[in-house]
Amino acid sequence: MKMIRAIIRTEREEAVINNLEAVGLYGITKMPVMGRGRQKGIQVGAIRYDVLSKLMILVAVKDNDCKKAIEAIEKGAYTGHPGDGKIFVQEIYKTYTVRSGEEKEK
Ligand SMILES: Nc1ncnc2c1ncn2[C@@H]1O[C@H](COP(=O)(O)OP(=O)(O)OP(=O)(O)O)[C@@H](O)[C@H]1O
Ligand SMILES: [Mg+2]
Repeated sequence: MKMIRAIIRTEREEAVINNLEAVGLYGITKMPVMGRGRQKGIQVGAIRYDVLSKLMILVAVKDNDCKKAIEAIEKGAYTGHPGDGKIFVQEIYKTYTVRSGEEKEK
């Protein structure tokens, strides 16, 4: 399995989550974060904002679902302007479902 961490514009949350649902992916964790990318924040007039508010969405998926999850996130998050977001993919070694005791690998 893979853990997808997508850091997106807060206003793209609904589009991203709807797109994930549309491809059958329902489980998510989301959290507000502050961050910056290669532009090192943003300059607005005299004020420099070193970090900007973003939304981080975590989605754990089966290896076979990773590509469609990324595509769903990219389509939902895209505006074409700097700051559209980053997606990081990490390996998950084990997943346990507390209620059922189910254990999953792969
Ligand atoms: N190298 C990084 N490590 C960790 N988090 C990052 C990194 N780069 C970007 N992020 C996170 O992703 C958010 C969105 O980044 P952003 O879309 O600005 O990336 P970028 O590489 O600067 O691309 P763009 O040129 O399109 O703006 C940042 O606010 C930050 O939270
Ligand atoms: Mg940027």
